[in-house]
Amino acid sequence: MTMTPHADAELIAAAEVVRGHAHAPYSRFLVGAAVRMDGRVFVGVNVENASYPVSVCAERNAIAAGVAAGARHVEAIAVVTDVSPPSSPCGACRQVIAEFAHHPAAVHVVAANPRGEHRTWTLAELLPDSFSARELP
Ligand code: THU
Repeated sequence: MTMTPHADAELIAAAEVVRGHAHAPYSRFLVGAAVRMDGRVFVGVNVENASYPVSVCAERNAIAAGVAAGARHVEAIAVVTDVSPPSSPCGACRQVIAEFAHHPAAVHVVAANPRGEHRTWTLAELLPDSFSARELP
């Protein structure tokens, strides 16, 4: 079993609380996320839309809140759902986390559920050999 570092426990708690504000009337899959960017914590929830593809994931909304506040570097992110095992960030969210990762191997990703189960990875494990600005001419 993986131990949860204190810093991750704080993010998990924040994600679990904000999950209660998720707007997911179509999937009924409520997601809360909390991200630490430049030492500050920002939260987000999934916000669905009657036009289904317009929906945005919790992780990307949390990062957008951080960016809007002037933060730029993702250090760790927690996502809370009510499934077992806890579900990991989708591919699109992994790519957005990578956009703001100073070093993908140093970004800690935690998935948890309200039952206290959790899984952890580095971003590099979830999105190896990712496309980034380095590839652009
Ligand atoms: N969702 C997230 O918020 N994060 C993920 O990493 C996976 C999926 C949301 C999108 C949609 O509102 C619902 O969960 C079902 O896919």
